[in-house]
Amino acid sequence: MPDWIPIAEASECPPGTSIERVADGRMVAIANVDGTLHAIDGLCPHQGGPLGTGELCAAVLTCPWHGWQFDVTTGRHRVSATVRQAVHDVREREGRIEIRFNGGVGSAEPTR
Ligand code: FES
Repeated sequence: MPDWIPIAEASECPPGTSIERVADGRMVAIANVDGTLHAIDGLCPHQGGPLGTGELCAAVLTCPWHGWQFDVTTGRHRVSATVRQAVHDVREREGRIEIRFNGGVGSAEPTR
């Protein structure tokens, strides 16, 4: 089982926000949906936009570059069933957000 990796202070991601961080060389988007943390791959599969810096509305994270939208609870694109970001374990411990990679990577349709 992979180790938990400290990735941010909990205070950096209050409810209703998302942040972008890098762990083990991978961009991660962390979102706080009504007090529950979620973590998905942070590199947008469209053209590499920084998902974690996008706008979070409920559980939907919108890429700031061209507006692709992802459900942070599942990693799924809201429209295309073939586009899905990897979802990672995330938890808060002693004021820190920690993640654990589950081994998968997101898949994407060809870049348009
Ligand atoms: S790079 Fe994310 S929508 Fe284009």
